[in-house]
Amino acid sequence: MQMLDITINGEKLQTSVDPRMSLADFLREHADARSVHLGCEHGVCGACTIIIDGKIARSCIALAIALDGAEIWTLEGLRDDPVIEQLRASFHECHGLQCGYCTPGMLITARDIISRYGTPTESVLREALAGNICRCTGYAGIVKAVQHAAERLAEQADTTTDGGVLAAGV
Ligand code: FES
Ligand code: FES
Repeated sequence: MQMLDITINGEKLQTSVDPRMSLADFLREHADARSVHLGCEHGVCGACTIIIDGKIARSCIALAIALDGAEIWTLEGLRDDPVIEQLRASFHECHGLQCGYCTPGMLITARDIISRYGTPTESVLREALAGNICRCTGYAGIVKAVQHAAERLAEQADTTTDGGVLAAGV
């Protein structure tokens, strides 16, 4: 076992960890982050997508011990994030999910896409979402939901004076 200092969803955590434990298992077992889903466990499906030091990453192919000193965000820590709130509403409205297994990873990736592209075209969006696999929806509802969310957020940003809702800081 080795000592690990890590910040998860704004909370500092110091604990001992098996050096072979993946970050995904660590988040689920030590931080109760059950939104971190495990699909392929090979870095392919995107179900385990989280944010490490401001960038999205796959937690199944990272070792927890390698993230000593890192700041991690999972969907649990983004409940009040305005982009995630809008994405949730849009996924609901546009039928962007069925079983929901891929959805946490989709939401985190979609948030990242919106923060980088604002209102992406469908082809940009499909390419940027290509690393997140959904077994249920056929993607049409997901693409529609992300476009819907991006448009609503852009409209809201136009009506604010502080530069809008994308400056969520995570
Ligand atoms: S479970 Fe991590 S990418 Fe599939
Ligand atoms: S909604 Fe079932 S895997 Fe995407």
